[in-house]
Amino acid sequence: MLSVENLHIRFRTGDGLVHAVNDVSFSVDAGSRLAVVGESGSGKSQIALAIMGLLAKNAEVEGRIMWDGQDLLATSNREMNRIRAREIGIIFQDPMSSLNPYMTIERQLTEIVEHHEGMSRRAARARALEVMDAVRIPDAKARLRAYPHEFSGGMRQRIVIAMALMCQPKLILADEPTTALDVTVQAQIMQLLQDVQSDLGTSVVLITHDLGVVAGFCEDVLVLYGGRVMETAKTMALFDQPGHPYTRGLLRAVPNIEDPSDALTAIPGSPPNQHRFPVACPFAPRCADVVDTCRETLPQLRDGRACLRPIEELT
Ligand SMILES: Nc1ncnc2c1ncn2[C@@H]1O[C@H](COP(=O)(O)OP(=O)(O)O)[C@@H](O)[C@H]1O
Ligand SMILES: [Mg+2]
Repeated sequence: MLSVENLHIRFRTGDGLVHAVNDVSFSVDAGSRLAVVGESGSGKSQIALAIMGLLAKNAEVEGRIMWDGQDLLATSNREMNRIRAREIGIIFQDPMSSLNPYMTIERQLTEIVEHHEGMSRRAARARALEVMDAVRIPDAKARLRAYPHEFSGGMRQRIVIAMALMCQPKLILADEPTTALDVTVQAQIMQLLQDVQSDLGTSVVLITHDLGVVAGFCEDVLVLYGGRVMETAKTMALFDQPGHPYTRGLLRAVPNIEDPSDALTAIPGSPPNQHRFPVACPFAPRCADVVDTCRETLPQLRDGRACLRPIEELT
């Protein structure tokens, strides 16, 4: 349904080029859930923004983003507006950035379909009640008259998901949708996204820095580091036998719910310099399994892993 092919994103800055996304390819099937995981700065949000046609002005993009037979990178603004309104929805980390504090929930929900689908006020209201139900907001009728500040953080994030659902998109890009929420509410929102996917068949790309929220939600995972794909796998297989030293590091940084006393180990070192296009493994300076060739060659993705070391030899 969506296929990202050899995507490169560079930013022109006063300091030279920043290579934010380097040759990333992946695809999302209809009705599936894919997680895009990586530390802060790894390029996750820029990939989502590129798909939506919302990159900053100083960005240079290369590659193809195929959606329904058309390349979104070569699509007119006008057509992108239509696709954003009706086919691909995006949810950001901070619900308040998507909500207008001065508008009732009803207006925020109905405005979208009245504007983009020419729906009558009445039909729009009926749709709003439906999606409020779909995102499990109790007493929806009364709540439509409320303003965003009258809701808790978790409820606001549900409203934002409801807004994304108003136009019945085929794909939702959820960019760290639970990062601002506490753990219990986080789990509820993940469950909700899962329900939405199975009830409505909407595909979901979940963007997160936390491998912990991926388990049980996405069937596929793409691990990014320094704007490159380090590993792609079925979630179960990835947790079972992570194939890249970076993925192993990320897994060690996931809190163990069964044994909270289990120490978390952050990956030592700092993120890669993105002022040059990588010519060697970007993770090499932080890698426990590094050998000389890792600093000289750029590992290509083979069998779902971009690592020169055999999997059996990893620590
Ligand atoms: N407009 C911009 N100009 C220069 N660099 C940018 C711009 N937008 C993002 N970047 C850089 O691109 C890289 C990837 O950013 P991003 O996709 O937001 O990371 P994350 O994985 O945390 O979502 C970061 O190094 C960021 O500083
Ligand atoms: Mg981000």
